[in-house]
Amino acid sequence: MDERMLAEIRQFVKSTTEKAATEDWTKAVSTRGPPIYNYRYDHVKEVVKVAAALTEGTAAEPATVEAAAWLHDAAKPGIGGVKKHAEASAELAFTILSEMEVDSEQVERICDVVRRHAGLTLDKKLEPIEAQIVWEADKLVKLGMTGFIHYILNTVVITPGKTLRSLSEDMATFLPLAERIAASMVTERAKKMAASRLDTLRHIAEALNTEIGGAGV
Ligand SMILES: [Fe+2]
Repeated sequence: MDERMLAEIRQFVKSTTEKAATEDWTKAVSTRGPPIYNYRYDHVKEVVKVAAALTEGTAAEPATVEAAAWLHDAAKPGIGGVKKHAEASAELAFTILSEMEVDSEQVERICDVVRRHAGLTLDKKLEPIEAQIVWEADKLVKLGMTGFIHYILNTVVITPGKTLRSLSEDMATFLPLAERIAASMVTERAKKMAASRLDTLRHIAEALNTEIGGAGV
């Protein structure tokens, strides 16, 4: 079989699978019921869990950390695209907590933590410790297997049409940033978790790169 025939076959497979994939995803999106994937809720739940683990054994106030972790992305319920989301989330958190008649000093503490959680890297430690912990939890879940799975699921929406090869290239691009994120951790537990999750990402990147090592089509 010559090159021209193989190219024709490849084009047949590409066009028929593209049509089927579009139909599959359209059907999945239009089906009534829960969303295909609720990234933000999944993310926030993980942040709450990790923040609670980071709080143990520190002077941080657990209730402030928990409430701030739940509300830290309040103004960003979707995947992203919200400017100054930490500031906006703090304002929304203030409204929500005030309506619930939470003690005003507690509201201030929670909103301050929410306001400070922005940015992927830090130049210096955040104060108070509750702010550092929520910041660390929010960034830790961007690393490791959790971060990898979230990236794959979100990229389907943000940049459709990815292939294994382009995902592998994205991983290689992300690793230096992941290292800077990990280097911004301050609490001992977060440092350990970041190192472990960074290791996981490196292994995934290496394995994926090895598996797709052949000539791409
Ligand atoms: Fe977040």
